[in-house]
Amino acid sequence: MPTDSTAKYPDALTDATADAVSGAATDTGARRRVLVTGATGYIAGQLVPELRDRYDARLLDVRPGPDVEVVDLLGTPASELAEYFQGVDTVVHLAYHRPDGEDPQTRYDGERRNVDLMQRVYQLALDHGVRRVVAASTNQAAKWYEQPYFAGRRDRVGPEDYPRPDNFYGWAKAAYESLGFLYACGSLGRALEVIQVRIVVPREIDPENFVDQPAHRYVRELAGYISERDLRQLFVRSIETPDIADEHGVPFHIFYGVSDNARKFWSITNAREVIGYAPQDDSERRFAADIARLLHRDTR
Ligand SMILES: NC(=O)c1ccc[n+]([C@@H]2O[C@H](COP(=O)([O-])OP(=O)(O)OC[C@H]3O[C@@H](n4cnc5c(N)ncnc54)[C@H](O)[C@@H]3O)[C@@H](O)[C@H]2O)c1
Repeated sequence: MPTDSTAKYPDALTDATADAVSGAATDTGARRRVLVTGATGYIAGQLVPELRDRYDARLLDVRPGPDVEVVDLLGTPASELAEYFQGVDTVVHLAYHRPDGEDPQTRYDGERRNVDLMQRVYQLALDHGVRRVVAASTNQAAKWYEQPYFAGRRDRVGPEDYPRPDNFYGWAKAAYESLGFLYACGSLGRALEVIQVRIVVPREIDPENFVDQPAHRYVRELAGYISERDLRQLFVRSIETPDIADEHGVPFHIFYGVSDNARKFWSITNAREVIGYAPQDDSERRFAADIARLLHRDTR
């Protein structure tokens, strides 16, 4: 049975997004069909139980896992992948190819595969009538801005700031985010709806890892923390909000994936406005005892 999440998630911010909390079914009343790529991975581990509960979910990964169909989304001919995309309402793209090696050329070549993987998902989605693609991205698409932030020369980083990656991983995400706009703006025919979620710190923060570190390293984790329930809410509302057209009519958005952290400097105002994201957690409260110990030590 699909879960009615109305009670589960807090009120959406605007009337326009209020319907999103009861959108587990489509307009026809059928359970939404959702295809999840990278379904054996870490982020999928946080999302899949909820996605399976709410939707008619199909799980794909190149690695086996419970109820996961083993499919290589890069190595398989597109014609053989069509069946996975037909009839799907939303693709949740979490697949990520982990490059081997550290030298710049190897990193570049490896991350290029992630751009190729994302492009395949967009194109298959466009070709086979998928309404929306919701993909995992990362703050690393604009990670360089952390330098002026911590140097006191910048107060905030928002999704509309020009991407400024400082590593190949972030570069690939910036590349596939902008490719998403191309698919969403309608220049290829139908406008494919695209949301990119720049997840920051999707894990509980272990203070022991920061005891001997400069304080700003720990502060950065607190600023970027996203709890499991907030991550689930962000993806569910990204899938279910009926209308995500921007002021120009283009259904494309980048949302930062952070909780309502007191120390956050990545902006979530557009996620609040467009999909009614209303995070329930704040790292300041969640880790209050650790913060007191690490950041407010009496050093006299
Ligand atoms: N884990 C984090 O802390 C974090 C933070 C920010 C953003 N993200 C983003 O979230 C996404 C998922 O990350 P993750 O940590 O779950 O990664 P992960 O490596 O745990 O999972 C990725 C999954 O994709 C699968 N995969 C790789 N190539 C594939 C292919 N060709 N076909 C099908 N499946 C394939 C892998 O087998 C793996 O199970 C990535 O885009 C990542 O950049 C993760």
